[in-house]
Amino acid sequence: MEWLRLKLAHEAIPGWAAGLYERAARLAIESYYAPLAQEIVAELGSGRILDVGTGPGYLPIEIVKRARWINVVGIDATPKMVYFASQRAKAQGMADRLTFIAGNAYALMFGDNSFDMVISTGVLHAWKDPARALAECCRVLKPGGVAWILDPAQILTGRNRRVWRRSLRWWEKLAYKVYSWLPRLVPPHRFSVGEIKDLLAKTPFVDGTAEQRDGIAIKVTKRRGEGRLER
Ligand SMILES: C[S@@+](CC[C@H](N)C(=O)[O-])C[C@H]1O[C@@H](n2cnc3c(N)ncnc32)[C@H](O)[C@@H]1O
Repeated sequence: MEWLRLKLAHEAIPGWAAGLYERAARLAIESYYAPLAQEIVAELGSGRILDVGTGPGYLPIEIVKRARWINVVGIDATPKMVYFASQRAKAQGMADRLTFIAGNAYALMFGDNSFDMVISTGVLHAWKDPARALAECCRVLKPGGVAWILDPAQILTGRNRRVWRRSLRWWEKLAYKVYSWLPRLVPPHRFSVGEIKDLLAKTPFVDGTAEQRDGIAIKVTKRRGEGRLER
């Protein structure tokens, strides 16, 4: 089953589905992104954050709204997502503290020790090589910096899911049905805490916690001397 999942699973959200995701994520601003942004701001009062697999950028936007001294760079493999995120940052007058770039988690285009914090939400389950992506997160983190890799099972409340489904046009409903058929046949991998421990052992991260919180929440710190990805 695992080989079939890896063969069929999409990592990046395809361009045609980016709009559907963006509209769903918009409904989760108050219930999911805003409280999470609050937690992140409580962890890091000022500095530079990298959001890996940023999607439409709702989390970075909620973060900079709450903290004047934080800048966020968001990368995503789907250029359409980067377009949505950049447009929204401009519309909200926050483009000076938010940068959205097309990029790949496996080869981050940043130097070693570039960020005070790395975050990633809803991407872990999609990565075909999560150890490599996490090692890259560690490489770009400054020593002493923390990475929060959160993979919630669901970000929409039941009510918002119904609102979103009702908002779809007939061809979007059809496209969504076809697209959602795949994970039903080959469900995305949901990590257990034990599996995360094994996964982290393959990365340069040493200190950290993993907890099951409607999905999985990993919080790891980069120690001095960590972050060299062996090639
Ligand atoms: C489910 S969305 C989550 C988006 C956002 N973090 C959020 O919480 O709304 C996953 C995102 O990760 C991106 N993604 C998946 N694999 C990636 C990779 N290897 N590098 C960069 N982005 C990736 C997808 O294109 C998609 O936009």
